[in-house]
Amino acid sequence: MPGTADKILQSILSSISQVADSRDIETLLMQFSRMAHELVPADRCTVWVFDKERNILWSRVADGIGRIESSAEEGLVGYVLKSGEPVILNDVYADSRFNPEVDRRTGYLTRNMISIPLKNSDGDILGVFQSVNKLGNIDFLEEDLKLLLFVTVYIGREIDAALLRDELDATQREIIYTLAEAAEMRSQEMGNHVKRVSEYCRLIAELIGLSEKDQELIKVASPLHDLGKIAIPDAILLKPGRLTDEERILMNTHAELGYSMLKHSNRRAFKAAATIAYEHHEKWDGTGYPNKIAGKDIHIFGRISAVADVYDALANARCYKPAWEHERVIALFQEERGRHFDPQIVDAFLENQERFFEINRTFADAHPID
Ligand SMILES: [Fe+2]
Ligand SMILES: [Fe+2]
Repeated sequence: MPGTADKILQSILSSISQVADSRDIETLLMQFSRMAHELVPADRCTVWVFDKERNILWSRVADGIGRIESSAEEGLVGYVLKSGEPVILNDVYADSRFNPEVDRRTGYLTRNMISIPLKNSDGDILGVFQSVNKLGNIDFLEEDLKLLLFVTVYIGREIDAALLRDELDATQREIIYTLAEAAEMRSQEMGNHVKRVSEYCRLIAELIGLSEKDQELIKVASPLHDLGKIAIPDAILLKPGRLTDEERILMNTHAELGYSMLKHSNRRAFKAAATIAYEHHEKWDGTGYPNKIAGKDIHIFGRISAVADVYDALANARCYKPAWEHERVIALFQEERGRHFDPQIVDAFLENQERFFEINRTFADAHPID
């Protein structure tokens, strides 16, 4: 039937072009499920990913539900994961490999299913594709398996690439943290300052309506705001008393120094970090440093990290001062609204103080510096 083959080809091509647009693995899984559903309509199409460390399979079935998990030892998915062979079952209750427990728990009635292992190009098993209850009350056929095998080869390779990207992203985050901690340690700002600033930055980005991508980006990049301090001499960086004017000028060069260390990278996270390092001491009214830029000329990431960095410095103890009372912190932000800080960001902070306190409590320093 050339008509049908044509339709199938069309639907595969349109699914593939959608998939090519999405980078994150959870979205991919949902798109793969839809793609498989187009080819062989069934009540449930699930792409399970194997998490070796936790020995579970996980999936993302629909918006709003989030991740679902299943044991890697049980049921047909467990069997297929181990054997690496696809299985068609048209009467699941007649097969001992099927685990009826889930049906019992959920009230769902599984009738038939196809389960196919997902492999990367080296043949390693990455997960299992499963199609449950073919629509129209009919059996799964060998033909269905052939069609699905075709797309599962593609799905396996895409998942492999997505897992690798996740791994690289995690590596990048770790490198950023290590760098940031090195800078913080030298300036004796031990503890969780960097972690908290990163969390406040993400929260502010969410509160003022930045995209999820930007929320994640500022969270990843903001720990590097003081990277430039690595290049400040100990005599100044670790001086216990007040800095002289000259020393202050030198200390302030950490913004530019951090920027010049980071600006050469083409990676998004490092580019954002360069901007944050450069602009986190600029002030809304143009009296900050290093460039005395004002208002919206300061990048939104710079404006956000200014609030996050100052809030954390005030709300926690430092070697030269105790933690401020909440009321005193709030009073300062009210006073500096439109002066040091972007008024929109201060408003978001004031309206959601509890969430900031919560982060401060969650990542409190074990041994506050006094
Ligand atoms: Fe700084
Ligand atoms: Fe800081």
